[in-house]
Amino acid sequence: METTLAIIKPDAYADGNTGKIIDIIISEGFKIIAMKQIHLSKKDAEGFYEVHKERPFFNELTSFMSSGCCVVLSLERENAVSKWRDVIGTTNPEEAANDTIRKKFGKNTGNNAVHGSDSAENGILESNYFFSKRELI
Ligand code: CMP
Repeated sequence: METTLAIIKPDAYADGNTGKIIDIIISEGFKIIAMKQIHLSKKDAEGFYEVHKERPFFNELTSFMSSGCCVVLSLERENAVSKWRDVIGTTNPEEAANDTIRKKFGKNTGNNAVHGSDSAENGILESNYFFSKRELI
């Protein structure tokens, strides 16, 4: 079993797509081991995306991620990281395959509806960023 962190980002949340995305998560065989609604502070977002702090889009990214509510979910499944990345599609929704979440609900590279961890190690680190041990069921 592997863990990945999913975030339903402020654009998808504001567009009312949270329920549809959770339905996809369940139908693709992920077990939701923790979930919460959260409005990130700018500092929360900067901490989460620290790995991107030298990138030119860091301020845009962290401002967007703290602009409204998100839903964060820790997901478990066999090959959770690669499976979730397949289900969400490429970073740029315009290039994403049909039937992926970003293709359906994303708008552009910044406002791309959802996040997914890029490795099993980060799946655990990112889940621990948002959830206490007690919350990971
Ligand atoms: P995510 O999977 O959350 O991980 C890092 C995020 O950085 C990525 O999704 C994109 O939303 C964002 N990102 C990557 N490239 C750019 C860019 N050129 N401009 C704005 N945001 C970007």
